[in-house]
Amino acid sequence: MQPLIEQVGQLCQEALRQIQEAAEPVALEGLRVQYLGRKGKLAEFTAQMGQIPQSDRPAAGEIINRVKQTLTAAFQEKQTSLNSQSLSRRFSFDITLPGVPRPIGHLHPLTQVIEQVCEVFEGIGFVVVEGPEIETERYNFEALNIPADHPSRDSFDTFYLEGGKYLLRSQTSTVQIRIMEKAKPPLAIVAPGKVFRPDAVDASHSFMFHQIEGLLVDQGVTFAHLKGALDLFAKRLFGKETKIRFRPHYFPFTEPSAEVDVSCLLCQGKGCSVCGRKGWLEIMGAGMVHPNVFRAVGYDPKKYTGFAFGMGIERIAMLKHGIDDIRLFFENDVRFLEQF
Ligand code: DAH
Repeated sequence: MQPLIEQVGQLCQEALRQIQEAAEPVALEGLRVQYLGRKGKLAEFTAQMGQIPQSDRPAAGEIINRVKQTLTAAFQEKQTSLNSQSLSRRFSFDITLPGVPRPIGHLHPLTQVIEQVCEVFEGIGFVVVEGPEIETERYNFEALNIPADHPSRDSFDTFYLEGGKYLLRSQTSTVQIRIMEKAKPPLAIVAPGKVFRPDAVDASHSFMFHQIEGLLVDQGVTFAHLKGALDLFAKRLFGKETKIRFRPHYFPFTEPSAEVDVSCLLCQGKGCSVCGRKGWLEIMGAGMVHPNVFRAVGYDPKKYTGFAFGMGIERIAMLKHGIDDIRLFFENDVRFLEQF
């Protein structure tokens, strides 16, 4: 009979060869049981130890242990490789290859400004709401104190849908009416969204652009509250050195009304080409809600007062980033967009 040591050596060679050839995890497990199992071939050798001379036993024991370690390692390695092969087969691609990095995008510069503006007002208790882009004349005009024959209708002219009953809103002020019809004061909302006007497209005009409307109604609201809110807004959005000023203006839905300027972001009020040497940039319209607007939604104008404001998002984004052509926002040119 061959010496035990030689037999163990041969067994090891044979097992390694079979492990190498195993093509399925099940076959591999069969082999593992056959060689390393409790009643497996290696265990048989251990059982035979009693029959060999005492002096040979330590050497034989060591050999058996080493073979056991070698085979255990070989099984593990083969198992890992079979597993990943079967995964690859399931996914029909090689999952061990490095991945394809996907470029990570970011929000559109206009969306970023919308979020920044909303965040400032949310910080002082305003709630963000949205209204429909398709509207009726009541919401875009009448309830906002712009009767059919009033010349100010021209400034808010828009696109009508077929049939003439519906139109695309030309201002987010529509949301003032929508919210007041549904809720009772006190309320404070900001409403971002798209608006539409039949303007020829050029560097500063687009038939579609974005506005954010603000409305606060309660008892005892004054122009001072409006001024305080907008002053805080300008400082939070443009920096704490920013100043604001109000210029008298006319809007049908507010009385008194004003246009609001911020000190020029580029020259800090000294006068430069962006502000046309004036030191100020116009950023929104604002005022105290007109009593007729309250009447249109069934609020008592003797009991409640409120302020409203509306700003153009593109204009703010252009001032913030020094962009000189509004069309850039809508062309989807990634070389432009990825700069923000
Ligand atoms: N809706 C006006 C526009 O599109 C902006 C505006 C002005 C909104 C004054 C207001 C406001 O709420 O009080 O030009």
